[in-house]
Formats: sequence, structure tokens, C-alpha cells
Amino acid sequence: MTGETAPRGVDPTVPSSARIYDALLGGKDNYESDREVVRLLTELYPFAQATAVANRAWLGRAVSYLADHGIRQFLDIGAGLPTQENVHQVAQAVDPGCRVVYVDNDPIVLSHGRALLTGTDNVRVFEGDLARVEEILAEARTFLDFERPVGVLLSAILHFFDDAADPYRIVATIRDALPPGSYLALTHGTVAPDKADEDSKEFTDAYSQRSSSGLHLRDKAQVARFLDGFEPVDPGVVYAVHWRPVPGTEPRPVEQAPVWAAVGRLP
Ligand SMILES: C[S@@+](CC[C@H](N)C(=O)[O-])C[C@H]1O[C@@H](n2cnc3c(N)ncnc32)[C@H](O)[C@@H]1O
Repeated sequence: MTGETAPRGVDPTVPSSARIYDALLGGKDNYESDREVVRLLTELYPFAQATAVANRAWLGRAVSYLADHGIRQFLDIGAGLPTQENVHQVAQAVDPGCRVVYVDNDPIVLSHGRALLTGTDNVRVFEGDLARVEEILAEARTFLDFERPVGVLLSAILHFFDDAADPYRIVATIRDALPPGSYLALTHGTVAPDKADEDSKEFTDAYSQRSSSGLHLRDKAQVARFLDGFEPVDPGVVYAVHWRPVPGTEPRPVEQAPVWAAVGRLP
């Protein structure tokens, strides 16, 4: 980050998931402490950066899909730092009238998001913690019309919740607040298919011990459970690189991007 000075409320010595992800994506909104974690993670798993890039590319495809299927309101929880091809840019390329609410619990995301989006129509940035999902929904309702379908994005956030934090209840709370025709689009980190759980434990421990959020990988069946009550959109729960890849492109090998992705529609 320029001059490595931190805004009020931000401790640059404690790596955050938002800034680590930004560093993995090659962004500039991160500190030395975040980059150190990235170096360590990359030593343990050389495709950490490729995984982040694949996740972000999926997000763009998922938002395009939702917009192409009539969604004009998006609630992006765990939105992350602004980068290229942000959700509102992808959605508003389809229809400038698309409304987007970005929610994150990281103060850096909020300050950068607000600075970048000042003057951008139809976009709001709210502070919110997914652990207190009811508050997020209440705030989102001040800008989005929950009588009309909403596309909810939970991209690379649910793996920061262990089972004790009951992420399934959290997602069900969102589902129960949505009108029919709404969508849930999510990604979730998993163990690479060519790795043993042991190897991934070293990686998740390294992440969890150094960052402000613990990392909890889940298998396909566990991720599929998040879609309870939704009709999965073809091709169902698959590796993100296999979720509707851009025609004519060669998806990255799944060993290099171990992330499950799924989109479901509320009947
Ligand atoms: C790996 S980034 C993903 C960013 C973006 N969704 C994407 O997929 O490109 C995870 C984001 O979730 C945010 N986050 C983590 N735990 C959260 C929580 N409990 N409530 C809200 N945001 C959270 C982090 O601050 C970070 O910005």
C-alpha cells in the first residue's frame, strides 16, 4: 500500500483475508504482513495465486450469468477490495440499472470501496459481518427491493466459518429472506484433488495462525448442503474452473485451483 500507512482502525501488522486475497490477485492494497503470508502460502502451495485468480474469474462469469438471467439486484457479502471486473461493472455492463450492495467486515475494504465508488450510481458499500446476517439483510433492504429477485454472492467467504459458527444456518437465513427467482452464487475452498488432507492442513494452519480469519476447507457434499432449498443451475457443484468456462478457453487444471463453485435458483 502506498507509503504503507494504515487508515484508522486498521492494524497493518495483522494480515487480513481481504488484503491477502488482494496480494494474491496482484493488487496494491496490502501490507508487508499480508505479502509475507502470501510468500509462505505460495511456498506451501505454489498455485495459491492461481487459485485466487480462478476464483475471481468465476465471480465474473457467475455475475454475468445472473444478469443474463434477469437479475438486476446483487448482494455481495465478503465483497473484498475493489479490483478489476468488479461485480457492479460486470452487472452494469448488462444493464446500467443494476443495483449492487457490497458488504464486508474489513475496514480497508470499506474505505477503499467507498472512495472508489463515490459518484457511482446504483451501488452501496455497507459494513457488515456475515456472522450477524440479519443485520446485513436489514441494511440491504434499505437499498434493494426484496419483493423482486436478488442475486446473493458468497464468493470465497464461507470457508472462514467453522461448523461451530453454523454457516448453514446463516445461508438458510439468507435463503428464507429471498423472494422466488432469486439466486445464490458461492465458491468455497477445498483440498486439491491430488493432495492429502495432511498437506492441506499445513496450508490451512499457516493461513489460520497468521491471518485474522481461520480457513476451513470443505468437500463437495458439504458445499452442496449450502444450496439446500435452491435448484442447482447446470453444471451443479463443480470446481470453479469448470463452472461455465468461457467457450474456447482451456480451464486451468483443477489441481491448480481447488475451489468449489455453485449457483442455485430459488424456486
Ligand atoms: C477471499 S476474499 C473474497 C473477495 C470476493 N468475494 C471474491 O471472491 O473475489 C474474502 C472477503 O470476505 C471478507 N470477510 C471475511 N469474513 C467476513 C465476515 N465474517 N463478514 C463479512 N465479510 C467477511 C474479507 O474481508 C474479504 O474481503
